[in-house]
Amino acid sequence: MRVAFVQFPPAFGRTAENLAQAIGLAEGVEAELYVFPELFASGYQFRDREEARAIAEPVPGGFVAEELASWCRRRGAFVCAGLAEADGEAVYNSAVLLGPAGLRGVYRKVHLFRHEKELFDVPVEDHFEVYDIGHARVGMMICFDWIFPEVARILALRGAQIILHPANLVLPHCPEAMITRCLENRVFAVTANRVGTEDRWGEEMTFIGESQIVNPQGEVLMRLEDDEAAVGIDLNPAEADDKRATPENDLFADRLVQLYTELLRPR
Ligand code: ACM
Repeated sequence: MRVAFVQFPPAFGRTAENLAQAIGLAEGVEAELYVFPELFASGYQFRDREEARAIAEPVPGGFVAEELASWCRRRGAFVCAGLAEADGEAVYNSAVLLGPAGLRGVYRKVHLFRHEKELFDVPVEDHFEVYDIGHARVGMMICFDWIFPEVARILALRGAQIILHPANLVLPHCPEAMITRCLENRVFAVTANRVGTEDRWGEEMTFIGESQIVNPQGEVLMRLEDDEAAVGIDLNPAEADDKRATPENDLFADRLVQLYTELLRPR
């Protein structure tokens, strides 16, 4: 299958323009599955929770998800994209998975980065779901979830072959860390990051780009710098079904979970 990501600099609050730009870039690349960045249509630096709540949309039914869904229908493709989701009084930093038949799933970011903790709610229930989209089994995580290896591990244990990873990265470590996430779980990961800067918090943030696709052997199949681009690559999701790092080491079968009980204790 062919998988693509979109990297560009969203302008805060210019939802329709950002959406058009992301779709315009995606239209230049044939793929079955596209990944767009975190909060790709709204921008990142909401000033406060009220602003996030005002811009957030219900899923399904909101402008961004519906526009993307109709694009998926026309194109016969799947899209995973980050957006601010409103659900009653709650606001989530979410990723939606849409396909030719409409909404397939929503993932609400679990590990919020810095001031996101003042803006967004976190889900209380386990919702690390894996979706069979025909071409592959996929799971979603968002940006800072990368630094909690549990997320990629759970998705992989549940059968994800490809981790879809919308991001707004500012720290430099994630692209290299995702190589390890892929290697230790023998999965593919598609990190779609944004570029550009925002300064609505009195603190300029520069987003690092470096969107990438990594395979289960930990090889970077494609990595951008800070270009504005959509790129795609052919991959075979079934490669992620072999969990052997060597003929003698199956990374899932060899886990000694009875020795890992500490992982279930809160600190
Ligand atoms: C991040 O989680 N947006 C760094």
